[in-house]
Amino acid sequence: MTETTPTPTHRLAVPTGTGHARIMSVGAYRPERVVTNDEICEYIESSDQWIRERTGIVSRRFARPDESVTDMAEAASRVALERAGLTAADVDMVLVATVTHPYQTPSSAALLAHRLGATPAAALDISAACAGFCYGLTLANDLVRCGSARHVLVVGVEKLSDFTDLHDRGSAFIFGDGAGAVVVGPSDHPGIGPTVWGSDGAQWDTIVNKSSWVEYRDSGHEEWPALKMAGQTVFRWAVWQMSPVAQKALDAAGVPIGDLDAFIPHQANVRIIDAMVKQLRVPAQVAVARDIAHSGNTSAASIPLAMDRMLTEGEAHSGGLALLIGFGAGLAYASQVIELP
Ligand SMILES: CC(C)(COP(=O)(O)OP(=O)(O)OC[C@H]1O[C@@H](n2cnc3c(N)ncnc32)[C@H](O)[C@@H]1OP(=O)(O)O)[C@@H](O)C(=O)NCCC(=O)NCCS
Repeated sequence: MTETTPTPTHRLAVPTGTGHARIMSVGAYRPERVVTNDEICEYIESSDQWIRERTGIVSRRFARPDESVTDMAEAASRVALERAGLTAADVDMVLVATVTHPYQTPSSAALLAHRLGATPAAALDISAACAGFCYGLTLANDLVRCGSARHVLVVGVEKLSDFTDLHDRGSAFIFGDGAGAVVVGPSDHPGIGPTVWGSDGAQWDTIVNKSSWVEYRDSGHEEWPALKMAGQTVFRWAVWQMSPVAQKALDAAGVPIGDLDAFIPHQANVRIIDAMVKQLRVPAQVAVARDIAHSGNTSAASIPLAMDRMLTEGEAHSGGLALLIGFGAGLAYASQVIELP
């Protein structure tokens, strides 16, 4: 191996990037059906009070049986495109962050691109669980900045009700369904800050399907491979490891915490959110997303869903700065400061 760069015999043409990118718009889709804690307690020995106290969840939404991950992604995407003043033909890349599209292949993203009329946009799904949306934003930012795409649709979507064991006392109460979408496009100034991200595969089995598809087949379909979770281990990891990651994202962007308009962490558990607020010393004037109360944990969808609601309800403001952090199965995490659309 040599460190010397070989003298090129050809000069390759490369795309010219725009230099900067930003989130142009956000859209959301929340399924109609509200599922209360009392309904969850029909399947597990628990109580509305325990679920509220331990997670902050009051209710979550479940999609209809005939409503798919791609259906929800499409609904959120149409809103985001309209708000960006674009048509699907303007989109040249579709990224769908999800762990609940029930086909190993092909991707939800390719079907979504087709349904929207974005064909022949490049399309792929991202499997980074609750960090998926922040991973997608990072990819979109760099694709636009480097010129591989001009407008990227980034969707976080989950139908976790399909992969929840309603009889599992350790997880039945936590998950919900929904979709959030953003359009990332060119900008004359930086709209998406540097990402601090990583993974820890040593903790691969802390949030995991109960079996692989192959084991499911070979067991004679004994138990549906719903998600199972080592709740306390994940809880401790999130509480102790994620605030330093968020702080690094602030430092990398050169943004003091007091300059934020909003803090939008992944909605995993309100006690994790409160611990992060304390550790990061988030000042009172910074709006903090606590959508988990009425959304449950919607994994990849939780951050764009909260962003949409905060902007719609005037809790956060267009052009303001928001700190995002996604974390979950993998374990995987990603954090960045963004300018709100
Ligand atoms: C799942 C979670 C809410 C459980 O809360 P917890 O405080 O860790 O609960 P524990 O498992 O330690 O159990 C505490 C007690 O509640 C009981 N308990 C557990 N589940 C219960 C339930 N559904 N209803 C009532 N009681 C329950 C336990 O038996 C235990 O009782 P004991 O003290 O008498 O032994 C919490 O661990 C969590 O939110 N983890 C992170 C989840 C997460 O972020 N997941 C996705 C990552 S993106």
